[in-house]
Amino acid sequence: MSAPILFALPGNEALAPCLAAALHAEIGDVEIRHFPDGESYVRLDSAAEGHPVIILATLARPDAVTLPLLYTAMTAREEGAQSVGLIAPYLAYMRQDRRFKPGEAVTSRHFAKLISGAFDWLVTVDPHLHRYKSLDEIYSIPSAVTSAAPLMAAWIDNNVKNPVIIGPDAESEQWAASVAADAGHAPYTVLTKVRRGDRDVQVSVPDPQILEGRTPVLVDDIISTAGTMAEAAHNLQTLGAAPPVCVATHGIFAGQAMNHLINAGVSRIVTTNSIAHKTNAIDISGLLTRAVYDVTSG
Ligand code: R5P
Repeated sequence: MSAPILFALPGNEALAPCLAAALHAEIGDVEIRHFPDGESYVRLDSAAEGHPVIILATLARPDAVTLPLLYTAMTAREEGAQSVGLIAPYLAYMRQDRRFKPGEAVTSRHFAKLISGAFDWLVTVDPHLHRYKSLDEIYSIPSAVTSAAPLMAAWIDNNVKNPVIIGPDAESEQWAASVAADAGHAPYTVLTKVRRGDRDVQVSVPDPQILEGRTPVLVDDIISTAGTMAEAAHNLQTLGAAPPVCVATHGIFAGQAMNHLINAGVSRIVTTNSIAHKTNAIDISGLLTRAVYDVTSG
């Protein structure tokens, strides 16, 4: 069988060599740029014919990435790729999973349709499965979902003394609970959150005594504006807790997110390398590799 070719979209260069080596894939060259009018230019500079093609594209800031991604996949197919798979370490549009107001687009479904139409399989880490129980509810292609929780737990074990794991809202409970179970069975609690707008979030602590003598570790799947984490960090400290550590799978860090966290007095911010950022301290390449083997062998 021909060796897979891995095309990494811009911004994914750091993960590509490690994944290519583990998957016995060649790294392909893809040129992506924009014409002066903003349209995308895509050119595959490695022959895809007869090869399984894997495209590595994390989907933070998805609107800018999605068209070039779809053009890359369509071109690989036209060029005769044996199959075209997508590794999206961060899978976008999962949070818009319901029509909250009449007429709103349920973009998780529309996005899933676009991706399912262009790819044969999908691999991702900690997608925001809240109202959907599985990607199969919206993606019509096979997918393998892996979780960074054990790696986050190992990082906490190695770096934080006496941690108490804290989920900043009800939606984070699944991540907080599994990280706590893996992190030497550290105690955990989940805060209550009221979101009053895209950037306006209020959080409260139900059982403050759990914080005594421990270092709070806020755990979530995503840091986007950091409103959730920053509000939680601030409230924990008004209750006398030590400056918290923030650990998340996906660090999007929209706008002034880093500043919000720093101003909220957090002691450290740690993310996985699902989205390249200076806070990356947890490597998920092994998880992705195993997930690709799972989805392509099943
Ligand atoms: C949603 O509930 C997620 O688990 C995160 O808590 C949320 O997406 C974080 O967003 P932000 O950083 O904008 O508060």
